[in-house]
Amino acid sequence: MIGGMKTIAVIFGGRSTEHDVSIVTALASIIKPLELTKQYRVEPIYISKDGDWYWDQKLKNIDLYQSGEIEEFMRKAPKVHLLFDNGLTLVKSSQFAGRKQYKKIDVVFPAMHGTHGEDGELMGVLEMANVPYVGCGLAASAVAMDKVLSKQVTESAGIASTPWTWFYSSDLPRRHSEIMKEVEKLAYPIFVKPAHLGSSIGITRVESRDMLMNALEVAAHYDDKVIVEQGVANLIEVTLPIMGNEDPLPALLEQPMLHAEDFFDFETKYMQGGKKGGKKGGAEQGAQGYSKIPADIPKDLYDKAVKLGIDSYKAVGCSGIARIDMLIDGKSQQVMFNEINPLPGSLYSHNWKQAGVSGVDLVSRLVAYAEQRWQSRQKIATNFATNYLKQF
Ligand SMILES: Nc1ncnc2c1ncn2[C@@H]1O[C@H](COP(=O)(O)OP(=O)(O)O)[C@@H](O)[C@H]1O
Ligand SMILES: [Mg+2]
Repeated sequence: MIGGMKTIAVIFGGRSTEHDVSIVTALASIIKPLELTKQYRVEPIYISKDGDWYWDQKLKNIDLYQSGEIEEFMRKAPKVHLLFDNGLTLVKSSQFAGRKQYKKIDVVFPAMHGTHGEDGELMGVLEMANVPYVGCGLAASAVAMDKVLSKQVTESAGIASTPWTWFYSSDLPRRHSEIMKEVEKLAYPIFVKPAHLGSSIGITRVESRDMLMNALEVAAHYDDKVIVEQGVANLIEVTLPIMGNEDPLPALLEQPMLHAEDFFDFETKYMQGGKKGGKKGGAEQGAQGYSKIPADIPKDLYDKAVKLGIDSYKAVGCSGIARIDMLIDGKSQQVMFNEINPLPGSLYSHNWKQAGVSGVDLVSRLVAYAEQRWQSRQKIATNFATNYLKQF
């Protein structure tokens, strides 16, 4: 620590289809507010699409990525080394021979979406380093990023889902008719999804048997596990950002205003304003197009959804922050768990803002939750004296 300032390493980019989204989350929603607090020194760590790690103050500048100068930067810049010294120290060789630069990290703020980051891989590295880090731990992240595991865990905690089944992709050619039979116990329309990928890649809404096989093959092509779900009728989608450790705090229940036919459209979700969502009156512009905050549903349904969200957060063992997506049958008023995002894009700061938590407040709290979680984990004994070695 220098002058009482804490050093926060923000890690972003990575080998994921959500690489670019991660850059924006890191720069706009994490680094900027962290610096505004004047309490933190930020060290940006950028992971390229190929998986190379760089550490440089220049990496905080969005122009670097927008202009494509990042390619030039990566050709010249030395890569960062991670030193595990019962904590984490960044090491970089300087462009001038001999001298190395060292930086001890107080807290890591992962800003990775999708594969090789949000899914627990990065958290495993940070656990090994024994450095405090923001957000969900290894196990919760891995469960959350696997739609099969997250349904199994929430279901065993008594949390409702739409009827569903799953299979290993490698079994599809071998157990083809068994799988078809199992899947067709569900009523059409059926949603077929790769278990891990986000951003609706590889997902198909299947109306009838003649489309089914193709959809199963597409999903199996993208992933080693495929989840198949019965479509929820009279669909109302809601999502709930939550933060905290033992006592999770919900933001406002948010209702994305996408049409069913847009559901797998990456552009609608992530591109400026949502090209199909541009003219909807009375809705707020959220991080993923237009949405209503708070959701425009009856109070008892709203409360049911918030409770299901918090229950899911706890069941999966989330910490720090996450966002729970739910599907509601507006007619039967049944609320169902859909999925968990351990690192919501932009931290869902637009929603937190409306819930009374500013961007600056949000990142400060998340850093505090990270330190608190790390502290309590230090109390778990990892060694005790034995005579084991002396026996030899
Ligand atoms: N069982 C379902 N019933 C009705 N609509 C669904 C169902 N599953 C997914 N959808 C629709 O498809 C969208 C994408 O599915 P989701 O599981 O959220 O995948 P992703 O990881 O890509 O966000 C949802 O936001 C919803 O609109
Ligand atoms: Mg989703």
